[in-house]
Amino acid sequence: MRSKFEEVKKIFIDSINKDNYVELDSATYNYNLLETSLLKPLKMILLYGRPGTGKSMLLNKLYHNLKEHREIHYFEAPILSEKAFLKEIYESMSGKSVPENMRVNFDGLLKYAQSLRGKREVVFLLDECQLYSEALMEKIRLLSDTRVVKFVITLHKTEDEDIVAKEHFKTRIWEVIVMKNVTEDDLHLYLQKKLIKKGFLEISNMIRKKDIRYIHYMTNGNFRETNKYLYTIFGIYEYYEKNNPKKISTKKLSKKILEMAAIELGYINA
Ligand SMILES: Nc1ncnc2c1ncn2[C@@H]1O[C@H](COP(=O)(O)OP(=O)(O)OP(=O)(O)O)[C@@H](O)[C@H]1O
Ligand SMILES: [Mg+2]
Repeated sequence: MRSKFEEVKKIFIDSINKDNYVELDSATYNYNLLETSLLKPLKMILLYGRPGTGKSMLLNKLYHNLKEHREIHYFEAPILSEKAFLKEIYESMSGKSVPENMRVNFDGLLKYAQSLRGKREVVFLLDECQLYSEALMEKIRLLSDTRVVKFVITLHKTEDEDIVAKEHFKTRIWEVIVMKNVTEDDLHLYLQKKLIKKGFLEISNMIRKKDIRYIHYMTNGNFRETNKYLYTIFGIYEYYEKNNPKKISTKKLSKKILEMAAIELGYINA
């Protein structure tokens, strides 16, 4: 038998896919900031925030919205080898492919970019830039100085280190967009929209204001944590649905199951 809660659970698997993007006040606000920044003569724009705050999702959305209108390229996964990175940049800009055994010379690439000044503007979206080396970041900055190449980069913030405070990020990155965990209201909208989009209005109606308060308390309004938590909650529902369906109500969320999931994830102790 097809399990309803198994389907619901799957909605909360992390994925970077524009079709799963939901409009929220915070996401829309950041999206608009990002789009406006791209219109300014900035060279680098930084999307910065803790893991799971939606940076990759936003970058992906931006790419799909703009790709028909601008010269824009999206590096979803970081290209860590300098050789491969420069090659990819050159190939994206020139539309030509570089033979396997040939190396793109950095000075040559800079000159090529400079020669396009005033004629073209090429945007590169680079996700996960905390993984790039200092040396490569420096090259990225030099490329952006040509004013032909513009970069939008994401960086995640860790507990122990404020990367943006580092000297080299102060110099040429002119716009920093900070992504944060969301409020209870946005969290509620997030869950409603995700569920309704997949046709589960009745499940969305099970979530009351006080459940949101509890979920927000457990996850701090972090998207990734929320996904993990909801996946676990509906996994427990799935279990009952298969083994003991009388035990679960489909009218409202069970506080007990919310607690069981929180224990399973170590948010609270049993
Ligand atoms: N606006 C949104 N609409 C729908 N889902 C979202 C949205 N923002 C974030 N998510 C969900 O949250 C998950 C985590 O978001 P994302 O991967 O973008 O975070 P991140 O900030 O890039 O994290 P990291 O720093 O670890 O790379 C995504 O897999 C996606 O499922
Ligand atoms: Mg990411």
